[in-house]
Amino acid sequence: MALKFNGKYLKNFVSESEFEYLYPQIELCHNLLHSKSGAGNDFLGWLNLPFDYDKEEFEKIKKAANKIRSDSDVLVVIGIGGSYLGARAAIEFLGSEYYNELNELKIYFVGNNISPDYLNNIIKICEGKRLSVNVISKSGTTTEPALAFRVFKKLMEEKYGKEESAKRIYATTDKARGTLKNLADKEGYETFVIPDDVGGRYSVLTAVGLLPIAAAGFNIDKLMEGAQHAVKDFEVCSPDNDCYKYAAARNILYRKGKSIELMACYDPDWTKMNEWYKQLYGESEGKDHKGIFPASVIFSTDLHSMGQFVQDGSRTIFETVIDIKKPKTDFFLESDEENADGLNFLSNQNMSIVNEKAMQGTILAHCDGEVPNIKLELDAKDEHTLGYAIYFFEKACAISGYLIGVNPFNQPGVEAYKVNMFALLGKPGYEDQREELLKKLSD
Ligand code: PA5
Repeated sequence: MALKFNGKYLKNFVSESEFEYLYPQIELCHNLLHSKSGAGNDFLGWLNLPFDYDKEEFEKIKKAANKIRSDSDVLVVIGIGGSYLGARAAIEFLGSEYYNELNELKIYFVGNNISPDYLNNIIKICEGKRLSVNVISKSGTTTEPALAFRVFKKLMEEKYGKEESAKRIYATTDKARGTLKNLADKEGYETFVIPDDVGGRYSVLTAVGLLPIAAAGFNIDKLMEGAQHAVKDFEVCSPDNDCYKYAAARNILYRKGKSIELMACYDPDWTKMNEWYKQLYGESEGKDHKGIFPASVIFSTDLHSMGQFVQDGSRTIFETVIDIKKPKTDFFLESDEENADGLNFLSNQNMSIVNEKAMQGTILAHCDGEVPNIKLELDAKDEHTLGYAIYFFEKACAISGYLIGVNPFNQPGVEAYKVNMFALLGKPGYEDQREELLKKLSD
């Protein structure tokens, strides 16, 4: 198992019998999921995706990735939400938050905000560079990426002309429908498919994540292998299923008033995985005025900002610690003859040991402060472990959603801001809402 559930630090907060009492409900959720009879059952393509993916398209992805690596200095990835976070999280987990500084091919993500400064900075960075673009949108109509693509399409056509730019633009979208699919077909872009039955936040193991991850030089075969192992390890419902133990622990704590899950990792390369987790769980569980609020920190960095609150603030938090067992590299701390800084007590050992002690000390302190801790232990920072972890979190999320009685696969609440934004921007068809909103703003 590349990711293990460790419930040792839950002992003072959750008893074994609580897991036993919840188990029949876990079984029910498992059956709903696997018989495809629960809410949102038309979005379960992710469940067996690590085995059932389109092998031909997978080879096409690797070919396109190799082409991008050979003919480009910069890959601009355009997308938002589920069409953005997974790829970025994977690249930064495997390749560090300094991926761009450490690698020849630079990867920039746009279309995930509407900040003019952000866009102008990336355009500036792209000047004089050989470019490729991967535009990702299942619907093809999401405002943020559509706006960014309009800009980059023009930029590419001005730079390369229509014919060559069409060879450098890759569109990941619906297999048959939508504005982006129509445009891609008209312009002759190579296209990759987001399966109908895989929702955005569950799509990182489709072309949505795989093309940018492969272009970044990571081994997507190993990623899928890791996910396959997770499918196998978590396919049977039993009290020993670690994925279900995680879902159960979260649910038990939620019922005790712990309504915030703080995902904590002691490695900043997990930062964007935290963002991916927040979307996955936030969009899946936060419905009908229910759900655990997903929050995140990177320690020890955030112990110096959020540490006070976690230790001593309102007691609504439980913590899920991501313990990465093996860093990619280590750093030996030498002793210093003068010891002017008094740090020799840390020397003659690897920095990873110091980090581990910081983690152990913090977990104990937080447990003393009435913050239950779940520990999820990851083997390493590699593709196999990542694929395994992705599937673990996806499946635990589905079970968690069913446990609290929501549909984990829709996101009706996301529309509200869009309606208001379109109305305020004067989009045709939104005239009535516009009047109402303008009145509210002026009152
Ligand atoms: O999880 C989701 O469904 C969303 O986050 C979408 O991925 C996001 O809104 C982007 O949608 P689209 O891919 O249609 O542009």
